[in-house]
Amino acid sequence: MAGNTNLAYRRLCRKFGAELTTTEMVSSQALHFNDEKSLGYLEKGHEELPVAAQIFGAKPEILASAAQKVAAKGFHILDLNVGCPVPKITGCGGGSALLREPELAADCIQAMVEAVDIPVTIKIRAGWDDADKCAPSFSARMAEVGAMAVTVHGRTREQKYQGHADLDLIRRVAEAVDIPVIGNGDVTDIASAQAMADTGVDGIAIGRGALGQPWIFRDLHAYFRGEELPPSPTLEQRAQLLLELGIGVAELYGEHRGMRIMRRLASDFFRGLPGAPKMRQASNRLESLADLEQLASGIRRPGGTDPGLPSPDASLPSPGRAPSSAG
Ligand SMILES: Cc1cc2nc3c(=O)[nH]c(=O)nc-3n(C[C@H](O)[C@H](O)[C@H](O)COP(=O)(O)O)c2cc1C
Repeated sequence: MAGNTNLAYRRLCRKFGAELTTTEMVSSQALHFNDEKSLGYLEKGHEELPVAAQIFGAKPEILASAAQKVAAKGFHILDLNVGCPVPKITGCGGGSALLREPELAADCIQAMVEAVDIPVTIKIRAGWDDADKCAPSFSARMAEVGAMAVTVHGRTREQKYQGHADLDLIRRVAEAVDIPVIGNGDVTDIASAQAMADTGVDGIAIGRGALGQPWIFRDLHAYFRGEELPPSPTLEQRAQLLLELGIGVAELYGEHRGMRIMRRLASDFFRGLPGAPKMRQASNRLESLADLEQLASGIRRPGGTDPGLPSPDASLPSPGRAPSSAG
């Protein structure tokens, strides 16, 4: 997820059992021209086995050139973004705009497949709008030209992030193709993960549901293996995770830029805590790791010293028990 799933965040997710991690989408055009900032998104960790890099664009030759840069960096999988609804991306024909151009999308996939030895996959949406939920036929066409797996976000481009992911549509994609299908959209807890698994998909992709609760992967592993759910993280553990993330982000981008990135990422860690609005305000002013340490103290002692608040080691809801969704 753009702006969120940098290497430091992905490391937290791996630690809790995420089995495949993906960079945020990177512009194929920028990679083609060796743009430093974009190349910086192609950082991967030694523990990311396997890790995918996701690129966007709509020009087969440029995508092929970017694909080679991704492969040269040692990524195991190359993913094409055909889901992004943002006008800046669709206006240039990329992201979800390709859903309306299946033959151009097929040319893009084919060019990427021919350019590299690693598997090429695709991430799509249900379709452009309600009148054109093309995901099953679109996925079948992409498989024909060499896509090795498809991730389906069950919303249309028109929905952006409103409404719900269409699980029935995801089921139809799983029925329509022989390649692995990864279901995506609104998985934030055990009930929603089970509903996604019931569609017959081969895997589940979690986006927003992992923000502020990277342990969701650990809990879902336990659930699907039929094991007892691990205890929920304590407030102390949650504070430590926030600090670990902040230190990792500062190592990647330097303290100044890193803390600006943490302004957004930190707020997810306060979800459900007493005093969360105040902590969110404070996170918007993050300048240094010392400020982050102070924020983490707020997690350890949510709501300050007010009587009647949870003690510092009080447990938080786990994905198995938390009924509400992220954000
Ligand atoms: C802030 C934000 C950034 C995102 N960036 C990307 C991206 O770079 N590539 C991508 O495939 N999807 C991206 N997405 C979409 C998510 O991967 C996912 O498909 C969508 O949020 C639905 O799944 P979820 O309910 O698990 O979050 C982004 C979503 C959000 C909210």
